[in-house]
Amino acid sequence: MSLRIAPKGQPLRIDILSAVPKLLESPLSESILARAQKKKLAEIVVHDLRAFTHDKHRTLDEPPYGGGAGMILKPEPIFECIESLQAQRAYDEVIYATADGEPFNQKIANELSLKANLIILCGHYKGIDERVRSFEGELITRELSIGDYVLTGGELAALVITDAVVRLIPGAIGDGESALSDSFQDGMLDAPYYTRPPEFRGMKVPEVLLSGNHKEIAEWRDVQRQKRTRERRKDLME
Ligand code: ADE
Repeated sequence: MSLRIAPKGQPLRIDILSAVPKLLESPLSESILARAQKKKLAEIVVHDLRAFTHDKHRTLDEPPYGGGAGMILKPEPIFECIESLQAQRAYDEVIYATADGEPFNQKIANELSLKANLIILCGHYKGIDERVRSFEGELITRELSIGDYVLTGGELAALVITDAVVRLIPGAIGDGESALSDSFQDGMLDAPYYTRPPEFRGMKVPEVLLSGNHKEIAEWRDVQRQKRTRERRKDLME
């Protein structure tokens, strides 16, 4: 597995485009995502699509042609916002978060964490005008889904993708090793973990973990990873 060799002084930049930017605020300003930004490992910039409307009512969405429930995000603000960003720097991917996209997984997270500049577009309401997706000049380069269920908008999906990607940047999480031993990193689930106290309500921490024997601990974890993966995710073994 390859992890991003962070070019000194160049954070991974992620621009997130949203019709409801407030939804993104708190998760991006707490914990590991906040620290990664403070440490200049990542630069995450949220853009309010409404700022790219020009009419008096700042209209972002309209009912679908042909009828049907829900509102559709208009193409103009999305094109304008993406093009204004592309005029400032080259983007490796312009991602649209959508339930009918390619299933997002750890492999894609690894891949994205190696990039320099990413855009994530959040759809909202019923969807976005199809011309954003079908534009022949290739506005959107990749469509990602975080699972087979429909969210009210792409914001939560954009946050999931951002979180999974940013934590892989070396230095983003405290222990440089821990991203390497995550579930899925080598196609397997992770082993169980314990901390103090050694006995809690009669439940004891496995003896080997208290032994200080690193070779035996590594072997035990390996067996546990295989056992857990076989029991819970047989599909990953195949
Ligand atoms: N927008 C709505 N549902 C979504 C999903 N499952 N994944 C990504 N974006 C979405």
